[in-house]
Amino acid sequence: MEDIESLLSQMTWEEKVGQMQQLSAGATPKEIFEAFKEKGEIGSFLHVLGVETGSFLEASSRSRMKIPPIFGIDAIHGHALLKGATVFPSQLAMACTWNEEMIEKVGEITAKEVAADGLNWVFSPVLCLGRDLRWGRIDETFGEDALLASRMGAAIIKGYQKDGLVAACAKHYLGYGEATGGRDAYDTEISERKAREVFLKPFKAAVDAGCMTFMTAYGSIDATPLTTNHRYLTEILKDEYGFDGFVVTDWENFRSLVTGQKVAKDMDEACVMGVKAGNDMSMNSDEFYDALLRAVKEGRIEEEIVNDCVRRILRVKQRLGLLDENKPSRPGREVIGCKEHQDFNYQVAKESAVLLKNNGVLPFKGAKRIAVIGPNADDVRAQYGDWTYFSHPMPKPWESGKEGVYTILKGIEAVYTESEVTYAKGCSINDSDPDSMLSEAVEVAKDADVIVVVLGDSLSQNGEYRDRANLALSGKQNELLCALKTLQKPLICVLVNGKPLVIDEVTKDADAIIEVFNGGDQCGLALAHLLKGDENFSGKLPISFPYDSSATPCYYNQYDYWHGGRYIDIPSGSPYPFGFGLSYSQFAISNLRLSKPTVKLGESFKLSLRLENVSSREGNDVVQLYFKDKVCQILTPIRSLLDFQKVFVPANGSIEVEFALSTNQLGYYDPNCHYVVDPGEFEFFVSDDGTHFKTICLTVE
Ligand code: BGC
Repeated sequence: MEDIESLLSQMTWEEKVGQMQQLSAGATPKEIFEAFKEKGEIGSFLHVLGVETGSFLEASSRSRMKIPPIFGIDAIHGHALLKGATVFPSQLAMACTWNEEMIEKVGEITAKEVAADGLNWVFSPVLCLGRDLRWGRIDETFGEDALLASRMGAAIIKGYQKDGLVAACAKHYLGYGEATGGRDAYDTEISERKAREVFLKPFKAAVDAGCMTFMTAYGSIDATPLTTNHRYLTEILKDEYGFDGFVVTDWENFRSLVTGQKVAKDMDEACVMGVKAGNDMSMNSDEFYDALLRAVKEGRIEEEIVNDCVRRILRVKQRLGLLDENKPSRPGREVIGCKEHQDFNYQVAKESAVLLKNNGVLPFKGAKRIAVIGPNADDVRAQYGDWTYFSHPMPKPWESGKEGVYTILKGIEAVYTESEVTYAKGCSINDSDPDSMLSEAVEVAKDADVIVVVLGDSLSQNGEYRDRANLALSGKQNELLCALKTLQKPLICVLVNGKPLVIDEVTKDADAIIEVFNGGDQCGLALAHLLKGDENFSGKLPISFPYDSSATPCYYNQYDYWHGGRYIDIPSGSPYPFGFGLSYSQFAISNLRLSKPTVKLGESFKLSLRLENVSSREGNDVVQLYFKDKVCQILTPIRSLLDFQKVFVPANGSIEVEFALSTNQLGYYDPNCHYVVDPGEFEFFVSDDGTHFKTICLTVE
């Protein structure tokens, strides 16, 4: 194994700064890209796909130091930029599983496919929180809650890095999802106290899980760009949390300091500011190399700062075995999209689906005719969501879908073989289609025994630069729904979308509602088996639905509010809140108890309960434990998720569920940013649907 200090001592400044530059295949001007590539002294490339890596490695092997580049890829729900790889449900959909073991395995499978493709670095997970629904990248998050995102994030990081072939990247650090007005890459008005209380938590969990890299967000916190934010990048992340991997900027963050955020007069100044703040590698901004080299040579940046950046990059390369003479062996390409991975993907899709309403129409079997209607019934792009080969690195909407993908229509056709399945699109998501499309759909549905209508949003309504002020179902989707409703048939609505939308009309008209978000390759097959009752629902929402577009943020853990905290013209709260999700089983929580009613500060205790399945259908349930410190020095949320367990309960059976806790978990950050646990009374809330709670109190002395 190469000694990093000895390597560092042999490197020239050109070689060192070269390690800190990342270039993009596709976006960097061709001559610049080729010149860097040929020289073989560059730290990293992004968006290079498998078969192409050979020539890059060959160039680096000809260079003096022979340090191979690390290849980064946006494999955020599977290695989906490569056509043929397994496309998992989006992070938001995956979070509905509340199943850490499953999410870890998603990471492991993705890393295998990425490694088989010759790459070694995934820009995932996204640990921003989805708290303002207007934001265009809600689909990339694990939802609105810091604890859930921390647990899901840590799990997927462990999975990615399990075989030691791939590094994970916690992004976007920090506050990106909380930008004012939900505007992408805008400023975030949060204090450090609030950051510690909420937004830093998943990132701290990522450090604790051993995440090898971090990515700096585009935005700013209280007007200081993250790119120049010494406090967050160096003092908190590296010094306080002990993160010893490296930080890469997001796309052209250095250049944006000059052109967008206007805090640096030129690239020379921008690069010095950014590196001093704690960024170790520049994603794109290809002027970075020359600018930083000049700064080092002219003494405008301390040599030790640059050495530390390079040391961090080499450390990650060393951990991945890239500096070893004998490089670690990788799985063969046959694992990419293989049956075993797709079978597992089916399980993920199944656990990701959330049953929001069922007035008894589900499960349905034996229908002679099923009409599948709607703009997202047979649309693989909408079903995949963002960050697949359709949309990145360059949008390729003309690409065809790959083999073996089950849209909702295809899944229903495959599972309901005894039924006649008819299909009509009805309308499109965005535009004003001719009314004939609506009437054609009504015509197709009129003789059906059951109608499955698939609504939602499209790729063009999610992603960077795509924030929405209006969260209602767009186009003529509500009209389509109303037209179908007039047929007076069982009406099942499936939602395929990147974020919770305003679905009051759906709630009113549909007999059953299922939210699948962006469910990946196997979504349609899993959904059809769920509809039929071959499988059971267990998904729970990781994010709350709004009553109205103007009612976002509507996350569950808002503060106590003495003037009521509601708008006069809509109900308060959320129609389908965080933690909500129905099942074909019926569960009942009882016998809530504490191991002791009073504990001392720092002591451990247990909270237990009985979970009974009062139905004849076996099933999985998510027991959610929340708490509230009844009196604090400052406002705290009405309740905060403290722990959860996903458990199996046999038909008509019951199990005991136990949470091992410590009073150390019951604290908050005071106005001086110190974590404190106040003695006093604490209330615990247990629920399996985010709406009904059993409570019990504990006294901490
Ligand atoms: C996104 C990142 C992504 C990077 C590289 C940026 O625009 O914000 O999430 O990893 O591009 O594709």
